Amino acid sequence: MVSLQFDGISGKLFLLNMAFLVMQVISAFMLVSIVFIPIGVVSLFASRDVVEIIDRYETACVPDGYKNDKVTFIQSNLTKQCNRTLTVKKRMKKPIYVYYQLDNFYQNHRRYVKSRSDSQLKENSSWDDVSSCKPEDTSNGQPIVPCGLIAWSLFNDTYNFSLNDQQLAVNKKGISWKSDRDSKFGKDVFPKNFQNGTLKGGATLNPSIPLSEQEDLIVWMRTAALPTFRKLYGKIEQDLQPNDQIHVTLDNNYNTYSFNGKKKLVLSTTSWLGGKNDFLGIAYLTVGGLCFFLALSFTVVYLVKPRRLGDPSYLSWNRNPGGH
Ligand SMILES: *[C@@H]1O[C@H](CO)[C@@H](O)[C@H](O)[C@H]1NC(C)=O
Repeated sequence: MVSLQFDGISGKLFLLNMAFLVMQVISAFMLVSIVFIPIGVVSLFASRDVVEIIDRYETACVPDGYKNDKVTFIQSNLTKQCNRTLTVKKRMKKPIYVYYQLDNFYQNHRRYVKSRSDSQLKENSSWDDVSSCKPEDTSNGQPIVPCGLIAWSLFNDTYNFSLNDQQLAVNKKGISWKSDRDSKFGKDVFPKNFQNGTLKGGATLNPSIPLSEQEDLIVWMRTAALPTFRKLYGKIEQDLQPNDQIHVTLDNNYNTYSFNGKKKLVLSTTSWLGGKNDFLGIAYLTVGGLCFFLALSFTVVYLVKPRRLGDPSYLSWNRNPGGH
């Protein structure tokens, strides 16, 4: 038979030890909450400091007579120019990032994502390597550079900004990843036979500019993982003051109407933590709060109804006196 002795010095030490363990658990939870809650608060404040202006325009930029038949409008020869006014609510410090946001656009579709030829885009490449690009591989028998559906569907809305009748410059240099410019898109690769087919998928490219400087293309070809995504269009390197009225003249060219996609123009500042994102702060606060709650309830339970840890009378063979 097993006999447990909890008398005298050793028994008291054991119980002390158990109390110490309980304290350790409580203080571990406490520690996590003490670290996480301030991080959460700081991240939420950082995210709150980011100023964003979002303007959804794909429906507003269709003339009244075509609201029920937007696809006909976008495929027609009618002017696609559209004027929008954005009001600055809070001071925006430079640099102000200009993004376009597309909703319901699946750049992550398996056949779309694979429809490109990375070897063709690189420096010193064989530019006729278009086998992976079907159905946008050749045009009139000539290889297309850059080939594939991704390049073919390049976004082609354009934005021009003015403030108090003065043009607001948008810097489009340096909007793509440096590593992409340096090693994925060659300085000696020029667009060829691009967007020559009968069905135009999107923007055309200037054939005299090498791919490494076609930054809109580079940004577009870094495909988004989710169907709602933002891509950088440029930067406004000037502060904007509250109540500034920004006039946007935009060319609403891109056809998202066939698949009910939304288009939004986004102006956003950044904080040290990046763009506007409350998720991180909320996640930290949730975990920190939960740990604080657990630490508190363990303490209360321990104080109100302590269980004598290591009490041998809880053991089954001791609860059943006739057991052996
Ligand atoms: C823009 O892209 C659409 C396809 O989404 C195409 O039909 C249209 O011709 C293009 N327009 C310009 C000006 O590139």
